[in-house]
Amino acid sequence: EKGGFRSFMDKEIHDQPHAVADTLLGRTDDKGRLVLDEIHVDEAVLRQVDKIIVVACGTAAYAGQVAKYAIEHWCRIPVEVELAHEFRYRDPIVDRRTLVVAVSQSGETMDTLMAVRHAREQGATVLAIVNTHGSTIPRESDAVLYTHAGPEVAVASTKAFLAQITAAYLLGLYLAQLRGTKFPDEIAEVLTELRAIPAKIQTVLDGADRVRQIAHWMADTSSVLFLGRHVGYPVAMEGALKLKELAYIHAEGFAAGELKHGPIALIEPGQPVFVVVPSPRGRDSLHSKVISNIQEIRARGARTLVIAEEGDEAVTPFADETFYVPQTPVLLAPLVSVVPLQLFAMELATAKGLDVDQPRNLAKSVTVE
Ligand code: M6R
Repeated sequence: EKGGFRSFMDKEIHDQPHAVADTLLGRTDDKGRLVLDEIHVDEAVLRQVDKIIVVACGTAAYAGQVAKYAIEHWCRIPVEVELAHEFRYRDPIVDRRTLVVAVSQSGETMDTLMAVRHAREQGATVLAIVNTHGSTIPRESDAVLYTHAGPEVAVASTKAFLAQITAAYLLGLYLAQLRGTKFPDEIAEVLTELRAIPAKIQTVLDGADRVRQIAHWMADTSSVLFLGRHVGYPVAMEGALKLKELAYIHAEGFAAGELKHGPIALIEPGQPVFVVVPSPRGRDSLHSKVISNIQEIRARGARTLVIAEEGDEAVTPFADETFYVPQTPVLLAPLVSVVPLQLFAMELATAKGLDVDQPRNLAKSVTVE
Protein backbone atom coordinates (compact mmCIF):
# COMPACT_ATOMS: atom_id res chain seq x y z
CA GLU A 1 0.00 0.00 0.00
CA LYS A 2 2.97 2.28 0.43
CA GLY A 3 3.41 2.13 -3.34
CA GLY A 4 7.15 1.57 -3.14
CA PHE A 5 7.73 4.41 -0.66
CA ARG A 6 9.54 3.90 2.63
CA SER A 7 6.55 4.96 4.70
CA PHE A 8 3.02 6.29 4.38
CA MET A 9 4.40 9.68 5.25
CA ASP A 10 6.87 9.52 2.38
CA LYS A 11 4.08 8.45 0.04
CA GLU A 12 1.73 11.16 1.27
CA ILE A 13 4.32 13.89 0.90
CA HIS A 14 4.89 12.70 -2.67
CA ASP A 15 1.12 12.56 -3.27
CA GLN A 16 0.85 16.29 -2.68
CA PRO A 17 0.77 17.40 -6.32
CA HIS A 18 -2.30 15.17 -6.70
CA ALA A 19 -3.88 16.33 -3.46
CA VAL A 20 -3.79 19.92 -4.69
CA ALA A 21 -4.80 19.11 -8.28
CA ASP A 22 -7.69 16.91 -7.17
CA THR A 23 -8.97 19.52 -4.76
CA LEU A 24 -9.12 22.03 -7.61
CA LEU A 25 -10.68 19.60 -10.05
CA GLY A 26 -14.25 20.11 -11.22
CA ARG A 27 -14.78 23.31 -9.30
CA THR A 28 -14.84 25.71 -12.26
CA ASP A 29 -17.16 25.95 -15.25
CA ASP A 30 -16.11 26.28 -18.87
CA LYS A 31 -15.94 30.06 -18.50
CA GLY A 32 -13.44 29.70 -15.70
CA ARG A 33 -15.90 30.79 -13.01
CA LEU A 34 -15.85 29.01 -9.70
CA VAL A 35 -18.78 26.71 -9.13
CA LEU A 36 -19.21 25.63 -5.54
CA ASP A 37 -22.92 24.72 -5.64
CA GLU A 38 -21.95 21.65 -3.67
CA ILE A 39 -21.80 23.70 -0.50
CA HIS A 40 -25.54 24.40 -0.71
CA VAL A 41 -25.52 27.65 1.20
CA ASP A 42 -27.88 30.36 0.08
CA GLU A 43 -25.86 32.92 -1.84
CA ALA A 44 -27.73 35.69 -0.04
CA VAL A 45 -26.36 34.38 3.26
CA LEU A 46 -22.80 34.35 1.93
CA ARG A 47 -23.16 37.87 0.57
CA GLN A 48 -24.09 39.12 4.01
CA VAL A 49 -21.25 37.53 5.91
CA ASP A 50 -19.36 40.24 7.79
CA LYS A 51 -16.85 38.09 9.64
CA ILE A 52 -15.21 34.71 9.18
CA ILE A 53 -13.88 32.66 12.04
CA VAL A 54 -11.78 29.63 11.23
CA VAL A 55 -11.80 27.00 13.97
CA ALA A 56 -9.39 24.08 13.86
CA CYS A 57 -6.55 22.39 15.73
CA GLY A 58 -2.90 21.71 14.98
CA THR A 59 -1.93 21.65 11.34
CA ALA A 60 -5.49 22.41 10.22
CA ALA A 61 -5.32 25.66 12.22
CA TYR A 62 -2.14 26.63 10.38
CA ALA A 63 -3.99 26.06 7.11
CA GLY A 64 -6.58 28.49 8.48
CA GLN A 65 -3.88 31.03 9.23
CA VAL A 66 -2.64 30.85 5.67
CA ALA A 67 -6.21 31.26 4.42
CA LYS A 68 -6.69 34.38 6.53
CA TYR A 69 -4.14 36.36 4.48
CA ALA A 70 -5.73 35.31 1.19
CA ILE A 71 -9.38 35.71 2.16
CA GLU A 72 -8.91 39.12 3.74
CA HIS A 73 -7.02 40.29 0.67
CA TRP A 74 -9.48 38.93 -1.86
CA CYS A 75 -12.77 39.44 -0.03
CA ARG A 76 -12.14 42.30 2.40
CA ILE A 77 -13.91 40.31 5.13
CA PRO A 78 -12.18 40.14 8.51
CA VAL A 79 -10.96 36.63 9.25
CA GLU A 80 -10.06 35.35 12.71
CA VAL A 81 -8.38 32.02 13.20
CA GLU A 82 -8.90 30.34 16.49
CA LEU A 83 -7.88 27.06 18.01
CA ALA A 84 -11.17 25.19 18.39
CA HIS A 85 -10.53 24.36 22.05
CA GLU A 86 -9.96 28.02 22.90
CA PHE A 87 -12.91 29.26 20.86
CA ARG A 88 -15.49 27.23 22.68
CA TYR A 89 -14.45 28.31 26.14
CA ARG A 90 -14.43 32.00 25.34
CA ASP A 91 -17.51 34.01 24.81
CA PRO A 92 -16.94 34.56 21.11
CA ILE A 93 -18.90 37.22 19.27
CA VAL A 94 -20.76 35.16 16.75
CA ASP A 95 -24.07 35.89 15.07
CA ARG A 96 -26.05 35.19 11.92
CA ARG A 97 -23.65 37.12 9.77
CA THR A 98 -20.64 35.14 10.96
CA LEU A 99 -19.33 32.37 8.76
CA VAL A 100 -17.48 29.80 10.85
CA VAL A 101 -15.15 27.61 8.83
CA ALA A 102 -14.21 24.37 10.57
CA VAL A 103 -11.10 22.80 9.07
CA SER A 104 -10.36 19.15 9.80
CA GLN A 105 -8.72 16.27 7.99
CA SER A 106 -10.49 13.56 9.95
CA GLY A 107 -13.79 15.34 10.48
CA GLU A 108 -13.78 13.72 13.92
CA THR A 109 -11.67 16.03 16.08
CA MET A 110 -13.73 16.49 19.21
CA ASP A 111 -12.53 20.01 19.99
CA THR A 112 -13.41 21.16 16.48
CA LEU A 113 -16.78 19.42 16.61
CA MET A 114 -17.58 21.17 19.90
CA ALA A 115 -16.64 24.51 18.36
CA VAL A 116 -18.99 23.78 15.44
CA ARG A 117 -21.86 23.07 17.84
CA HIS A 118 -21.06 26.16 19.87
CA ALA A 119 -21.07 28.36 16.75
CA ARG A 120 -24.30 26.94 15.38
CA GLU A 121 -26.08 27.39 18.68
CA GLN A 122 -25.36 31.07 18.33
CA GLY A 123 -26.76 31.30 14.84
CA ALA A 124 -23.57 31.26 12.77
CA THR A 125 -23.43 29.45 9.45
CA VAL A 126 -20.83 26.71 9.68
CA LEU A 127 -18.94 25.47 6.66
CA ALA A 128 -16.64 22.49 7.10
CA ILE A 129 -13.48 21.95 5.08
CA VAL A 130 -12.94 18.24 5.64
CA ASN A 131 -11.10 15.37 3.99
CA THR A 132 -12.99 12.35 5.29
CA HIS A 133 -16.37 11.68 3.73
CA GLY A 134 -19.15 10.65 6.04
CA SER A 135 -17.39 11.98 9.13
CA THR A 136 -19.13 13.79 11.96
CA ILE A 137 -18.07 17.43 11.47
CA PRO A 138 -19.60 17.79 7.98
CA ARG A 139 -22.75 16.06 9.21
CA GLU A 140 -23.16 18.63 11.93
CA SER A 141 -22.26 21.64 9.77
CA ASP A 142 -24.46 23.66 7.45
CA ALA A 143 -22.22 22.99 4.50
CA VAL A 144 -19.10 21.12 3.48
CA LEU A 145 -16.33 21.71 1.01
CA TYR A 146 -14.38 18.48 0.77
CA THR A 147 -10.65 18.38 0.26
CA HIS A 148 -9.74 15.63 -2.15
CA ALA A 149 -6.43 14.58 -0.65
CA GLY A 150 -7.39 10.90 -0.45
CA PRO A 151 -6.96 8.91 2.76
CA GLU A 152 -4.16 10.19 4.97
CA VAL A 153 -2.68 7.34 6.99
CA ALA A 154 0.44 8.79 8.61
CA VAL A 155 -0.41 10.40 11.93
CA ALA A 156 1.31 13.67 11.07
CA SER A 157 -0.61 15.60 8.47
CA THR A 158 1.02 16.59 5.18
CA LYS A 159 -1.07 16.24 2.05
CA ALA A 160 -4.27 17.10 3.92
CA PHE A 161 -2.63 20.40 4.92
CA LEU A 162 -1.98 21.36 1.31
CA ALA A 163 -5.48 20.31 0.32
CA GLN A 164 -6.97 22.36 3.17
CA ILE A 165 -5.11 25.45 2.05
CA THR A 166 -6.24 24.85 -1.52
CA ALA A 167 -9.88 24.44 -0.51
CA ALA A 168 -9.73 27.56 1.65
CA TYR A 169 -8.35 29.51 -1.34
CA LEU A 170 -11.28 28.24 -3.41
CA LEU A 171 -13.68 29.39 -0.73
CA GLY A 172 -12.04 32.82 -0.63
CA LEU A 173 -12.14 33.18 -4.41
CA TYR A 174 -15.75 32.04 -4.47
CA LEU A 175 -16.73 34.65 -1.90
CA ALA A 176 -14.82 37.28 -3.87
CA GLN A 177 -16.67 36.24 -7.02
CA LEU A 178 -20.02 36.33 -5.25
CA ARG A 179 -19.44 39.65 -3.56
CA GLY A 180 -17.67 41.27 -6.48
CA THR A 181 -14.56 42.22 -4.51
CA LYS A 182 -12.34 40.93 -7.33
CA PHE A 183 -12.82 41.16 -11.07
CA PRO A 184 -13.53 37.87 -12.85
CA ASP A 185 -10.22 38.18 -14.69
CA GLU A 186 -8.31 38.49 -11.44
CA ILE A 187 -10.02 35.41 -10.05
CA ALA A 188 -9.31 33.47 -13.24
CA GLU A 189 -5.67 34.50 -12.98
CA VAL A 190 -5.34 33.15 -9.44
CA LEU A 191 -7.01 29.92 -10.53
CA THR A 192 -4.51 29.58 -13.36
CA GLU A 193 -1.68 30.09 -10.87
CA LEU A 194 -3.24 27.50 -8.57
CA ARG A 195 -3.36 24.97 -11.38
CA ALA A 196 0.36 25.49 -11.90
CA ILE A 197 1.13 24.62 -8.26
CA PRO A 198 1.18 20.80 -8.51
CA ALA A 199 4.07 20.91 -11.00
CA LYS A 200 5.94 23.30 -8.70
CA ILE A 201 5.47 20.97 -5.73
CA GLN A 202 6.85 18.20 -7.92
CA THR A 203 9.94 20.30 -8.62
CA VAL A 204 10.51 20.65 -4.86
CA LEU A 205 10.01 16.91 -4.38
CA ASP A 206 12.55 16.24 -7.10
CA GLY A 207 15.12 17.99 -4.92
CA ALA A 208 14.38 15.77 -1.90
CA ASP A 209 17.84 14.15 -1.93
CA ARG A 210 19.52 17.33 -0.88
CA VAL A 211 17.10 17.82 2.01
CA ARG A 212 17.79 14.23 3.05
CA GLN A 213 21.53 14.82 3.04
CA ILE A 214 21.27 17.91 5.22
CA ALA A 215 18.79 16.26 7.59
CA HIS A 216 21.21 13.36 8.00
CA TRP A 217 24.05 15.72 8.87
CA MET A 218 21.80 17.27 11.48
CA ALA A 219 20.65 14.06 13.14
CA ASP A 220 22.16 15.12 16.51
CA THR A 221 20.48 18.52 16.62
CA SER A 222 18.53 19.17 19.78
CA SER A 223 16.69 22.35 18.81
CA VAL A 224 15.64 24.04 15.58
CA LEU A 225 13.96 27.41 15.16
CA PHE A 226 11.74 28.46 12.25
CA LEU A 227 11.09 32.02 11.16
CA GLY A 228 8.58 33.32 8.68
CA ARG A 229 6.60 36.39 7.95
CA HIS A 230 3.18 37.04 6.38
CA VAL A 231 2.02 33.68 4.93
CA GLY A 232 5.47 32.33 5.76
CA TYR A 233 4.64 32.65 9.46
CA PRO A 234 2.14 29.75 9.59
CA VAL A 235 4.53 27.83 7.33
CA ALA A 236 7.24 28.29 9.97
CA MET A 237 4.84 27.11 12.67
CA GLU A 238 3.94 24.05 10.62
CA GLY A 239 7.62 23.28 9.96
CA ALA A 240 8.24 23.36 13.72
CA LEU A 241 5.22 21.18 14.47
CA LYS A 242 6.31 18.55 11.93
CA LEU A 243 9.77 18.41 13.49
CA LYS A 244 8.39 18.02 17.01
CA GLU A 245 5.95 15.34 15.98
CA LEU A 246 8.22 13.28 13.79
CA ALA A 247 11.73 13.76 15.14
CA TYR A 248 10.96 14.64 18.80
CA ILE A 249 13.21 17.65 18.50
CA HIS A 250 12.47 20.86 20.29
CA ALA A 251 11.31 23.23 17.60
CA GLU A 252 9.64 26.61 17.63
CA GLY A 253 8.18 28.77 14.93
CA PHE A 254 8.19 32.55 15.19
CA ALA A 255 6.98 35.49 13.21
CA ALA A 256 10.27 36.96 11.97
CA GLY A 257 9.19 40.41 13.15
CA GLU A 258 9.08 39.11 16.72
CA LEU A 259 12.77 38.21 16.74
CA LYS A 260 13.99 41.36 18.43
CA HIS A 261 11.09 41.24 20.88
CA GLY A 262 12.57 38.19 22.56
CA PRO A 263 13.41 35.08 20.57
CA ILE A 264 16.73 36.47 19.33
CA ALA A 265 18.03 35.79 22.85
CA LEU A 266 17.89 32.10 21.96
CA ILE A 267 20.44 32.47 19.19
CA GLU A 268 23.84 31.10 20.07
CA PRO A 269 26.62 29.80 17.86
CA GLY A 270 25.52 26.77 15.88
CA GLN A 271 21.76 27.16 16.50
CA PRO A 272 20.00 25.97 13.32
CA VAL A 273 17.31 28.37 12.10
CA PHE A 274 15.08 27.83 9.11
CA VAL A 275 13.94 31.05 7.49
CA VAL A 276 11.05 31.15 5.03
CA VAL A 277 11.85 34.14 2.85
CA PRO A 278 8.98 35.97 1.11
CA SER A 279 9.21 36.50 -2.61
CA PRO A 280 11.25 39.54 -3.67
CA ARG A 281 8.52 40.06 -6.27
CA GLY A 282 6.00 40.70 -3.53
CA ARG A 283 6.17 43.62 -1.16
CA ASP A 284 9.71 44.83 -1.34
CA SER A 285 9.98 45.84 2.27
CA LEU A 286 8.88 42.42 3.50
CA HIS A 287 11.60 40.63 1.59
CA SER A 288 14.32 43.00 2.72
CA LYS A 289 13.19 42.84 6.34
CA VAL A 290 13.49 39.08 6.39
CA ILE A 291 16.92 39.32 4.77
CA SER A 292 17.99 41.64 7.61
CA ASN A 293 16.64 39.10 10.09
CA ILE A 294 18.85 36.46 8.51
CA GLN A 295 21.83 38.80 8.78
CA GLU A 296 21.04 39.51 12.44
CA ILE A 297 20.87 35.89 13.48
CA ARG A 298 23.86 34.92 11.35
CA ALA A 299 25.93 37.62 13.03
CA ARG A 300 25.15 35.86 16.32
CA GLY A 301 26.34 32.53 15.02
CA ALA A 302 23.09 30.91 13.84
CA ARG A 303 23.29 28.27 11.16
CA THR A 304 20.82 29.57 8.59
CA LEU A 305 18.75 27.23 6.44
CA VAL A 306 16.87 29.37 4.00
CA ILE A 307 13.80 28.60 1.89
CA ALA A 308 13.77 31.14 -0.93
CA GLU A 309 12.31 31.65 -4.32
CA GLU A 310 14.36 30.62 -7.34
CA GLY A 311 16.39 33.54 -8.57
CA ASP A 312 16.50 35.28 -5.17
CA GLU A 313 20.22 35.85 -4.92
CA ALA A 314 19.97 38.36 -2.10
CA VAL A 315 19.77 35.46 0.38
CA THR A 316 22.91 33.59 -0.65
CA PRO A 317 25.54 35.65 1.18
CA PHE A 318 23.81 34.93 4.51
CA ALA A 319 22.54 31.40 4.02
CA ASP A 320 24.46 28.34 5.13
CA GLU A 321 22.04 26.26 3.08
CA THR A 322 19.49 27.48 0.57
CA PHE A 323 16.50 25.50 -0.62
CA TYR A 324 15.13 27.13 -3.70
CA VAL A 325 11.46 26.70 -4.55
CA PRO A 326 9.79 27.74 -7.83
CA GLN A 327 8.46 31.28 -8.19
CA THR A 328 4.89 31.46 -6.92
CA PRO A 329 2.52 34.37 -6.23
CA VAL A 330 2.93 35.53 -2.66
CA LEU A 331 -0.43 34.39 -1.30
CA LEU A 332 -0.07 30.91 -2.79
CA ALA A 333 3.55 30.39 -1.77
CA PRO A 334 2.87 28.22 1.32
CA LEU A 335 1.83 25.36 -0.96
CA VAL A 336 5.41 25.08 -2.15
CA SER A 337 7.48 26.55 0.68
CA VAL A 338 6.23 24.11 3.31
CA VAL A 339 7.31 21.06 1.32
CA PRO A 340 11.06 21.25 2.10
CA LEU A 341 10.15 21.56 5.80
CA GLN A 342 7.97 18.44 5.67
CA LEU A 343 10.76 16.56 3.92
CA PHE A 344 13.29 17.82 6.45
CA ALA A 345 11.25 16.60 9.42
CA MET A 346 10.65 13.22 7.83
CA GLU A 347 14.30 12.76 6.88
CA LEU A 348 15.60 13.82 10.25
CA ALA A 349 13.24 11.39 11.97
CA THR A 350 14.36 8.68 9.57
CA ALA A 351 18.02 9.46 10.29
CA LYS A 352 17.21 8.99 13.99
CA GLY A 353 15.64 5.63 13.23
CA LEU A 354 12.13 6.70 14.24
CA ASP A 355 8.79 5.47 12.96
CA VAL A 356 7.56 8.44 10.95
CA ASP A 357 4.07 7.02 10.44
CA GLN A 358 3.32 6.41 14.10
CA PRO A 359 5.04 9.00 16.28
CA ARG A 360 4.89 8.31 19.98
CA ASN A 361 2.00 9.60 22.08
CA LEU A 362 -0.06 10.81 19.11
CA ALA A 363 -3.32 9.63 17.58
CA LYS A 364 -4.46 10.27 14.02
CA SER A 365 -7.76 11.66 15.13
CA VAL A 366 -8.16 13.19 18.53
CA THR A 367 -11.69 12.20 19.43
CA VAL A 368 -11.44 13.20 23.07
CA GLU A 369 -11.34 16.67 24.50
O1 M6R B 1 -8.21 15.66 11.77
P1 M6R B 1 -7.90 17.10 12.09
O2 M6R B 1 -7.44 17.85 10.88
O3 M6R B 1 -9.07 17.79 12.74
O4 M6R B 1 -6.73 17.06 13.12
C1 M6R B 1 -6.26 18.23 13.70
C2 M6R B 1 -4.95 18.00 14.42
O5 M6R B 1 -5.12 17.05 15.43
C3 M6R B 1 -3.86 17.52 13.46
O6 M6R B 1 -3.65 18.42 12.41
C4 M6R B 1 -2.55 17.31 14.21
O7 M6R B 1 -2.02 18.54 14.63
C5 M6R B 1 -1.57 16.52 13.37
N1 M6R B 1 -0.89 15.58 14.21
C6 M6R B 1 -0.57 17.40 12.67
O8 M6R B 1 0.41 16.70 12.00
